[in-house]
Amino acid sequence: EKLPQLATANRYSSWIIVIAGIYFTMRIYKKNLYRTTFSHCRYSFSYLWGRNDPFRKSESFAAPDAIRFWRRQFFFVSSPAKCTFSKNMAKIILTGDRPTGRLHLGHFVGSLRRRVELQNSGEFEKIFIMIADAQALTDNADNPEKVRQNIIEVALDYLSVGLDPAQSTLFIQSQVPELCELAFYYMNLVTVARLQRNPTVKAEIQLRGFSENNAENDLQRQGIPVGFFTYPISQASDITAFKATTVPVGEDQEPMIEQTREIVHKFNSVYGETLVEPEILLPDNAACMRLPGTDGKAKMSKSLNNCIYLSDTADEVKKKVMGMYTDPDHLRVEDPGKVEGNTVFTYLDAFSRPEHFSKYLPEYSSLEELKAHYRRGGLGDVKVKRLLIAILNEVLDPIRERRHYYEARIGEVYEILREGSEKARAAAAETLEEVRAAMK
Ligand code: TRP
Repeated sequence: EKLPQLATANRYSSWIIVIAGIYFTMRIYKKNLYRTTFSHCRYSFSYLWGRNDPFRKSESFAAPDAIRFWRRQFFFVSSPAKCTFSKNMAKIILTGDRPTGRLHLGHFVGSLRRRVELQNSGEFEKIFIMIADAQALTDNADNPEKVRQNIIEVALDYLSVGLDPAQSTLFIQSQVPELCELAFYYMNLVTVARLQRNPTVKAEIQLRGFSENNAENDLQRQGIPVGFFTYPISQASDITAFKATTVPVGEDQEPMIEQTREIVHKFNSVYGETLVEPEILLPDNAACMRLPGTDGKAKMSKSLNNCIYLSDTADEVKKKVMGMYTDPDHLRVEDPGKVEGNTVFTYLDAFSRPEHFSKYLPEYSSLEELKAHYRRGGLGDVKVKRLLIAILNEVLDPIRERRHYYEARIGEVYEILREGSEKARAAAAETLEEVRAAMK
């Protein structure tokens, strides 16, 4: 017999609920579906929803956002080519460090501090921070244990400086095998001569004592490992696998990003627009670009034994700063001193803020005033060093606190890395699919 009106309505509405349920589940769990549907525009998903995704839990759909939303929709419809590489492209960060030792103040001012700021700026769609263990092996093949142990040290350093696993994906390079396959394809797009010209590779060959001819002494290692020689290519796959738009690193990494951009260019011109060209983001302060070691030597480096580590205690920091290189001609307090090349002042350039003076050294209103007094003479090294110690400990205290927290919960740290690596792997696999498809 005929069903009553109400029952019919109920039957349809349950279908509607089921269909809507499937739709939203797909939207949430299979965001990528949109990319394949609109495969001519790789960013279509972020175009449609992007940061203003109305389904995102905590974000309201404000009026200006709505305008931008419809404008994007319009551009998307009218010119897919434009939307692929326009300014509105999702901003993605990828960066990382080799786990060959604990991280130090050079890493902090050169890159870590910036990463945390970028993370908290909310400007980036995704942030990937990689522990480059496979890259560390390129010149430590005989010492995998060292690399293995430092993975957790670097993870602790990351968490201590304030990288938040809820906002930044922390992962281990070797747990993303997709990166190898990408590198394998990119290898065909780079010449030996181009790699030989890479200034960082050149400098590191010198530094590591790799020698292609017979080693002249015991310290020189025979031959340049191919893996080491080609690590710029592997770094290009690290960056492109995550479609990174922004790579915040120190100055020494500039040739790597340049090489990556060339590979992207080459790939896109041979196989069609697939990869994203990344931009480097350098520290904005000269002192932060290349923080010298405590001995005043060019760069903080473990092998030179001139580092202040993020995990150093207050006592260790005090000792290291007290022994720091200053102006060798500044013998008596009354003597005029040099500020340029004076490590203590370089560190103050990198770390001090105006409020530190009223707090720790109220006789001076700014770093400029302190420098002027030092130049004139009458200001002793110890006083300046004490100021630096106070400032460094102010910076390092919260870092130490967070380190203690995570050191007591090491299982949690492993879990963060496992989850992060899984997430990173999914993202890299997606790019690899696109790369394979492009090469067909
Ligand atoms: N080469 C970087 C270092 O020496 C580590 C690294 C590996 C990296 N892959 C990267 C940095 C990709 C930025 C982007 O510390």
